[in-house]
Amino acid sequence: ERLPALLAAMPKAELHIHIEGSLEPEMIFALARRNGVDLPYANVEALRRAYAFTDLQSFLDIYYAGASVLLKEQDFYDMASAYLARAAMDNVVHAEIFFDPQTHTARGVAIDTVIQGLHRACVDARAELGISASLILSFLRHLSEEDAFATLEQALPWMDKFIGVGLDSSELGHPPEKFARVFARCRELGLHVVAHAGEEGPPAYIWGALDVLKAERIDHGVQAVHDAALMRRLAEERIPLTVCPLSNLKLCVFPSLAAHNLPALLEAGLVATVNSDDPAYFGGYINANFIQTFAALPILTARHAWQLAHNSFEASFAPQAEKRAWG
Ligand code: HPA
Ligand code: ZN
Repeated sequence: ERLPALLAAMPKAELHIHIEGSLEPEMIFALARRNGVDLPYANVEALRRAYAFTDLQSFLDIYYAGASVLLKEQDFYDMASAYLARAAMDNVVHAEIFFDPQTHTARGVAIDTVIQGLHRACVDARAELGISASLILSFLRHLSEEDAFATLEQALPWMDKFIGVGLDSSELGHPPEKFARVFARCRELGLHVVAHAGEEGPPAYIWGALDVLKAERIDHGVQAVHDAALMRRLAEERIPLTVCPLSNLKLCVFPSLAAHNLPALLEAGLVATVNSDDPAYFGGYINANFIQTFAALPILTARHAWQLAHNSFEASFAPQAEKRAWG
């Protein structure tokens, strides 16, 4: 079977990866030891056993606990360097990486520490691996808009080190409208804007992300299939969806990969992409997402593989010239 080999080998961009979600259990324990942080798990195996999620919130609780071992600039550097080396093995040539500053500043870690460590990893990865990588600052939507504004303020001295802002964490009960003002300010500052919407939340949250936040991409967006007018809008305006199949499977958004709606999104002409979201927690990096999804959905062919890789470059915020060179 040549399809898995093609999926693995094709150059691709990854546009939906939370760097804190790339923290493997082994690195969580190594950093806990290095930093003298106590973990409520006896060992790597016990932590892995806790990765049995029922919905988004059950994952987020463990994801934020895992991030508690990150204290020093070197920790952020090591985490991002490990992800970028792993992504390069999957033939990712460009990555746009979310980071959650509030998860760290709430624990007393300076935003300078976070951004400097992550940025240094991106710079070194370009030199050492030939991979281009950019950062997207993501606001936690379970916190207030005021808290998001304070975070943006702290990030202003580092504006040249991230290309845009996103919106993640607990979706239900926290609609995009809650962040209308802070996203307007980010747009004025010339930042790209994206938002998680329609992962667990209704199509109305995708409309809100588009109309109120003016999101240029929708992260997840799989609930759009329940709204025909929204599907037409996404197709006509070529608003990309950064789909994460293994994440959707592990968070019970779909009962199986065979039931995933990626084929329907592509069939409707949407600029869908495949991404890993939180690979250390969901059981696979980007190539595992491609290979397992295509194996479960035999309707997907080499033509779809090419389309998804092409979409990933079109949907990226890389300069036009680079996008064209990648395909
Ligand atoms: N959804 C919302 N918040 C997140 C996710 C996600 O898939 N991953 C990390 N934070
Ligand atoms: Zn996500």
